[in-house]
Amino acid sequence: MEVNEGQNTTGVLKRIAGPVVTAVGLNAHMYDVVKVGREELMGEVIKVDGDANIIQVYEDTTGLRPGEPVINTGLSLAVELGPGLLTSIYDGIQRPLEVLVQKMGSFIERGVSAPGIPRDRKWEFKPVVKVGDEVSPGTIIGEVQETNIVHRIMVPPFVKGGRVKSIQGGSFTVEETVCTLEDGTELQMMHRWPVRVPRPVREKKNPTIPLITGQRILDGLFPIAKGGTAAIPGPFGSGKTVTQQQLAKWSDAEIVVYIGCGERGNEMTEVLTEFPELEDPKSGKPLMERTILIANTSNMPVAAREASVYTGITIAEYFRDMGYDVSLMADSTSRWAEAMREISSRLEEMPGEEGYPAYLAARLSEFYERAGLVTTLAGDSGSVSVIGAVSPPGGDFSEPVTQNTLRIVKVFWALDAKLSQRRHFPAINWLNSYSLYLDTLGPWYDTEVSPEWNPLRSWAMEVLQKEAELQEIVQLVGSDALPETEQITIEVARLIREVFLQQNAYDAVDTFCSMKKQYDMMKAIRSYADQSYAAQAAGVSPAQIISIRAKNDLPQIKFVKDYEPMLDGILKAMESEFTTLRSSA
Ligand SMILES: Nc1ncnc2c1ncn2[C@@H]1O[C@H](COP(=O)(O)OP(=O)(O)O)[C@@H](O)[C@H]1O
Ligand SMILES: [Mg+2]
Repeated sequence: MEVNEGQNTTGVLKRIAGPVVTAVGLNAHMYDVVKVGREELMGEVIKVDGDANIIQVYEDTTGLRPGEPVINTGLSLAVELGPGLLTSIYDGIQRPLEVLVQKMGSFIERGVSAPGIPRDRKWEFKPVVKVGDEVSPGTIIGEVQETNIVHRIMVPPFVKGGRVKSIQGGSFTVEETVCTLEDGTELQMMHRWPVRVPRPVREKKNPTIPLITGQRILDGLFPIAKGGTAAIPGPFGSGKTVTQQQLAKWSDAEIVVYIGCGERGNEMTEVLTEFPELEDPKSGKPLMERTILIANTSNMPVAAREASVYTGITIAEYFRDMGYDVSLMADSTSRWAEAMREISSRLEEMPGEEGYPAYLAARLSEFYERAGLVTTLAGDSGSVSVIGAVSPPGGDFSEPVTQNTLRIVKVFWALDAKLSQRRHFPAINWLNSYSLYLDTLGPWYDTEVSPEWNPLRSWAMEVLQKEAELQEIVQLVGSDALPETEQITIEVARLIREVFLQQNAYDAVDTFCSMKKQYDMMKAIRSYADQSYAAQAAGVSPAQIISIRAKNDLPQIKFVKDYEPMLDGILKAMESEFTTLRSSA
């Protein structure tokens, strides 16, 4: 895509229809950023129709009138990238909410411009290249200790590069020149990047390492790769936000970008008040030190939802380019899709399915395609993992946003209202969910967890699927009518669900479960299953097998940090109960 770098022209506002306005005399290109009306509201040209430019406005258009001026900046919608990003809370167009609140007393006021990253603050710049070194786009030229994260300063991708003529360490603002190249190019710590253009990389790689989240059903059954894509669809109250926050807190990404997109004001307020309080379990410092939060509540203008999504992914790519693993959460992509629908209907475009524009699928896939594990321009490895919540009305997954998302993402964590009503959390349905990364991640689990893990996982999935079939029979004729082995299967499945799958996000220990512990838990359940079938074959009745007491203590290990002695005790007790049963059979 071309990056717009035109000149200023002024036009006149002709027509206003909610977030969509028409101006003439602008001479603008597609995606030029314009300032609309006397208050200079920020907007973007989304359609050029002869002399008329159709503009989506990222701020409330109430009170705008025909005849007001419209200024074309000739620039594309861009974000500012540099030290000062971390810990920030932005609106959809990268205005720091804090500054907006200070200036206006409320963050839904209009026409306020505030720089995305502070101009006055000084950062200690440490060069990592020296005079005479050859640098090219993406080369890391220096470092700033921004929080507990080192912010790597790069040659911007659009700079040609060359030999370093001068570079100096010291205290600088983001606009001061820290490095000069022999051709005279001056480099600062900050650069701007147009949000609709993916940042370039040397190579996209096939993801082979899981993003470990500490959530058993995710890591254990439906893993996402570092650099992968996942969707969490679910009706209201089923656990989208809790899951996204668990991922923000626990996944082994170094940087978190969290986009609150169009959720109701009070839900966002929770995020805004809770997030700054969250502690990073790894460093003990505030989680915000490695987080950028983008907040776009439902009462903010709809067009800004799209901007928030592009702003977020661009910031994520920027940290990836430094060689970091970044995870990006978007809650909820349905609100963005609804914004597309509203804008499209204002444009009087031919509606597609359920009124969504025909380009819904293309937009969603452009967004998710910016995820990936890459070799950066500097030759390092970095990744952006993208996890999007989807809020289908009434929890009906057949609607267009869920269906289109499903075709794009590789992992599907299907939340289920029935499970959340039963207080089975996380309420992720193990029968509808899937991960297409199982094969590529298999070798990692083999070497990093155990060669036994992958077969154990397949076994657990088979048991759960079998249970679902058996449940139908049980509902018709009762469990006593089942063959003996299948009565045992039902009990084993119950253990998998209650011991392994259920996980309490609010318990200090259970909130995160290492792969080692996940493996130990699953192995313990497998051990009960193996001994049960052996005992049954030796003539012990299913009722006796199901009444083995030791296995009922298994859930307790979830809440114990150093669980190994306890687990050992349970396994020994279980074995001796089986021995007793078999000797009396
Ligand atoms: N993993 C979990 N552990 C414990 N409780 C959960 C979990 N997931 C969801 N819940 C419960 O469900 C409620 C609703 O979840 P939430 O994420 O806000 O739903 P959604 O975003 O889908 O509307 C939470 O307030 C919490 O009580
Ligand atoms: Mg929510």
